[in-house]
Order: sequence, then C-alpha cells, then structure tokens
Amino acid sequence: MRSPILDYLDAIVEQTGHIDSGAPADYIPELAAADPNRVAVALCTVNGTVYAVGDADHEFSIQSMSKPFAYALAIEDHGLDYVLERVGVEPSGEAFNELSLDPETGRPRNPMINAGAIATHALVRRDERPAVERILALFSDLAQRPVEIDEGLAASELATGDRNLGIAYLLHASRRLAGEPSASVEGYIRQCSANVTVRDLALMASTLANGGVQPNTGRRLFSRRTTRQVLSVMASCGMYDAAGDWFTSVGIPAKSGVAGGIIGVLPGQVGVAVFSPRLDGHGNSARGVAMMERLSEDMGLHLM
Ligand code: DON
Repeated sequence: MRSPILDYLDAIVEQTGHIDSGAPADYIPELAAADPNRVAVALCTVNGTVYAVGDADHEFSIQSMSKPFAYALAIEDHGLDYVLERVGVEPSGEAFNELSLDPETGRPRNPMINAGAIATHALVRRDERPAVERILALFSDLAQRPVEIDEGLAASELATGDRNLGIAYLLHASRRLAGEPSASVEGYIRQCSANVTVRDLALMASTLANGGVQPNTGRRLFSRRTTRQVLSVMASCGMYDAAGDWFTSVGIPAKSGVAGGIIGVLPGQVGVAVFSPRLDGHGNSARGVAMMERLSEDMGLHLM
C-alpha cells in the first residue's frame, strides 16, 4: 500500500505547480540549460526512512548545499576554535557571491557565502587524496551511494569562475586563504559540481537532524557539537540575504544551491530536500521555498 506521506508530497508538488517565477542560473552555462519544469521533494526521518516524489531520481549539482558538509569536515579536521579564527559565523546580509569580509579581522563573514566556502574548502585536510576527494567520500557516506562529480559542469563553471578567483586572490592577499587561490577555487567548484538527487539530499539532511549519525548505516560522520555548529550557521546564514524571511516563514536550518535545491533540517526529527531550478532574486529556488513553506506549515516544522 502506498504511504499517505507520498500522497501528501505529491499534493505539495501539485499545489505549487503554478509557481513559474524566476529562471535557472545563467552565470554557469551548464545550469542555464536545465529543464526549468523539473521538480522533486523528499524527506528522510531520523530512523532512515526516505519518502520521495516527482523527479526524485534526477541528478543535479549540489552547489552551495555542499558548504555545510565541507564546513563540518574542516571543524572535524582542526577543531572549532581554529576554524572560527579563519571564517566567521555572522550573516552577511549580502548576496552569496559578494566578498563580505569582517572589517576588523578580514576573515570571510561566514562559511555559507562563496568567500567563506572557498576559505573553508582550503581548510579541509588533504591526506593522500585532494580535499575534494575527501568531501566527495563524505557525500557518498551520507547518501549511501557513490556520489560523483559532473565534470562537464565543473569545467563549465571553472571557465566562467573569474568572480570566485577574484575573491580567492583577495583572501590570499589578506592571508585569509590556507591554499593557493586557483587550486582552492578549482577544488571548491568541483565540490559544488557533485551530482545528487533529492533522495541523497534528504539522507544528508537527516544525518544532520540525527546529530551527525547517518540514520541507516549508524556511522557517526561528525560529532554532535560539530553538527550543532553547522545547523546554527545554516539557520542564520544558509539562505543568504533571504535568511530573515526564510526563518520567519519556514523556521528551520537550511541551505540552498544555485542548481535549484534546498535542504532543511528539523533537529531530532527529519531532513527535507526540494528541487526546482527556477531561482528567485536571492539565488534560492522560488518553487522550492514555496514547497518548504507548505511543508513547514502542514508538518509543524517551524522551530518557534
Ligand atoms: O560558487 C558558485 O557561485 C556556485 N558554485 C555556488 C553558488 C550557490 O549555490 C549559491 N546558492 N544558492
């Protein structure tokens, strides 16, 4: 018998079908070619049960939804204090691709904007593998399947990545980048180019909801303290200069991605993921935000 939760998620997709505002990102050529009508929703409970509807098996790039997980790895590698000295936790109030440096310390405002994410990527330890391979291995552990990089997309973004390169060189000039600028940007862009589905993302989000323990494998992928830090920064910075609107209307820690995904986490309960490529003015999925608002209202996700 089909779960009534799947019927409910179908209804969420149906009831937001009229939302066709915005357009796929066009500053990354490969993203501009995305089918704007694709849509998917998934949720995963902290006991590991996944419910997914729509284009649930469609792969798209994780983009900025990768940033919370790279941040977790950097904290696990160096400890929170070390990372905090190098990347702040304050919302920037600006778009994700603004430089946004703390005027007193020169460090990037937070790890969710590009400047902070590039600096964070450069902090992730390279063992015998490049940092991006460790990040990819973490994605695979979280998703319970091999997650791979869309090499064509990565090449597409690298070819048009001047803004991120400029940010990286400015960080490096102020001794706020723990790596060589072009290598750090290449690793960061490859991190963003990992292909995921909403099923994968719901499992990733449910691991955060589950205190850092992957709900099906039982593997602790990050500490409870690291998870608390990541969720706190997602709550205040994850939706960029729409963070205030988001937290008042949806009310859960979240992170968006420029390919049209959003993940949300209700700690101790559930991880949620939505996908629709058309973006609003903040670089967040317009229909994705609407679907999350409905989910929050109907399922009582709001933390307040
Ligand atoms: O660096 C960039 O601009 C992209 N790889 C990621 C930006 C992004 O996902 C913004 N979030 N909505």
